[in-house]
Amino acid sequence: MEYLPTMLKIIENGALANTEKVASYTKVLADKLRNDGDTKAAQKVINIIKQTNTRKGISPASALNSSTIPVDRDSRFSLADESFPDIKDIDIQLDKIVERPVEEFISFVENAHLLSDAGVGISPSMLIYGPPGCGKSYLAQHIAARLKLPLLTTRCDSLMSSLLGSTAKNIRNLFDHAANRPCVLFLDEFDALAKARDDQHEVGELKRVVVGLLQNIDNLPSDTVVLAATNHENLLDPAVWRRFAYRLNIQMPSYESREKLLKQYLKGFSPKNLKNLTSATEGMSGALIRQACEALIRLAVLNGESNLDENKLLVKIAQIQHYKIIQSHETAESKIRQLKQADSRLFTTRVLSELFTISTGKISKILNSPLQA
Ligand SMILES: Nc1ncnc2c1ncn2[C@@H]1O[C@H](COP(=O)(O)OP(=O)(O)OP(=O)(O)O)[C@@H](O)[C@H]1O
Ligand SMILES: [Mg+2]
Repeated sequence: MEYLPTMLKIIENGALANTEKVASYTKVLADKLRNDGDTKAAQKVINIIKQTNTRKGISPASALNSSTIPVDRDSRFSLADESFPDIKDIDIQLDKIVERPVEEFISFVENAHLLSDAGVGISPSMLIYGPPGCGKSYLAQHIAARLKLPLLTTRCDSLMSSLLGSTAKNIRNLFDHAANRPCVLFLDEFDALAKARDDQHEVGELKRVVVGLLQNIDNLPSDTVVLAATNHENLLDPAVWRRFAYRLNIQMPSYESREKLLKQYLKGFSPKNLKNLTSATEGMSGALIRQACEALIRLAVLNGESNLDENKLLVKIAQIQHYKIIQSHETAESKIRQLKQADSRLFTTRVLSELFTISTGKISKILNSPLQA
């Protein structure tokens, strides 16, 4: 019954004579069949649409190729990027507290027909908020991949940067496009659009654009999945929050998630014991952990090494976590003392020695000598 939700969509839109949607959902069905290895059935399904086109003189088949994303009239820039995330390429680590609502959201979308039959249908929209680099955009890819739908990503700041007069039109065109095909519409950097509504300095026209955006969200058909992401949730007013059935706060990864992130991004280079490293990465985002791991793997590959020394990893993490002290213009002695004070467990004599290329003996001497007045 894996195909049932898509088949129901095809029947529903057929009954409503919405040929474009029939065709685009048929394409989704064909893609699912093809992914599951049934290319014959996939081709049969596509052929039905193509033949309908020739028999009736109408053109549902054109919808098979209707993924032309609208463009800004003046700049000709595309208003969104289309991608087809594959679950095989996405390995997201989510804390349990985040994972549960995400699974629930996916299940609601997949079983939307059951919910509307029971009169408790829900508009599939989710606002994802949290600090930079903690996986908001990655989660949008994950959700699209799980739903086996194309992801239409628009960066709201660039949508806004076009001439104001055409911004409202751009938004409408984009939403019309999304409403007419099965997809996940992802409004990234959402605060760029939504914050203007309440900003004292913004001119009236901008506010009207934002009100228009909210109306567009309201008017989307109940089967269009909308995700929005921001790291400035405090800039969004209550009217914006209300538009989203789900609000998901992603925070910096927990100990368990950081351990998984380290394993994931260190791959075969990972030391066996990740305890110290996991503790040292507290407060780092998934994006930063990935960067640190990849930088070291690059060096190891160039040096022909097949595994990574834990100490080197700790130094790299220390450089990221305490870059302000490390890059300050103070003396090495003063920096060494400050680092030891900031995190005595991370800054062992060996780590400090590697970091400043000073012998461990000298580091101990600095740390044990009294501060000069
Ligand atoms: N929870 C996570 N699990 C696995 N990888 C992650 C996670 N968080 C971040 N990453 C890695 O970091 C990259 C950047 O993360 P992403 O762009 O999703 O962050 P973001 O929250 O959208 O940041 P920003 O607020 O700056 O847009 C991802 O493509 C992924 O490789
Ligand atoms: Mg992002």
